[in-house]
Amino acid sequence: MGRRPAVLFVCLGNICRSPLAEAAFRAEAMRAGLEVEVDSAGTGAWHVDEAPDGRAIREAARHGIDISGYRARQVAAADFGRFTHIVALDRTNLADLKKIAPKGATARLSLVLDHVAGRAGEGVADPYYGGEAGFARTWDEVSAAAAGLVAAIVTGR
Ligand code: 4NP
Repeated sequence: MGRRPAVLFVCLGNICRSPLAEAAFRAEAMRAGLEVEVDSAGTGAWHVDEAPDGRAIREAARHGIDISGYRARQVAAADFGRFTHIVALDRTNLADLKKIAPKGATARLSLVLDHVAGRAGEGVADPYYGGEAGFARTWDEVSAAAAGLVAAIVTGR
């Protein structure tokens, strides 16, 4: 393998979807024995330095993972050189990332469900304005994507 992989998940606020994607991906990489740097960020700055949404913290806890120490940050131009993979949680996030990508960006950009067979081109719906059920669905989707992306990295795809 070449450069050590580093994966950044990006949503809008970095308090609901991308922290769950980060947690699911960390768990999946650990299971696969994949050494990888993992982080998450938001395209927006409203929640910078905040902990994840309480509903996201509870959803991760249901899967045995504590994300209460995560803190939100905004994605930055430097991330396009620091990470090998940047994964957008929805199509708007992907479009916004393309707008801020600097010239010479090396990170490979993708949409989260591109990593799930049969769901390429789909994003994960924002669960912010719904109830706990939305967060359970988010977990299922980001877990499937995490498994797919870990497998792709491990096999060098
Ligand atoms: P996220 O959810 O992008 O999954 O973290 C959101 C959280 C907050 C807001 C929007 C989406 N907001 O507008 O404050």
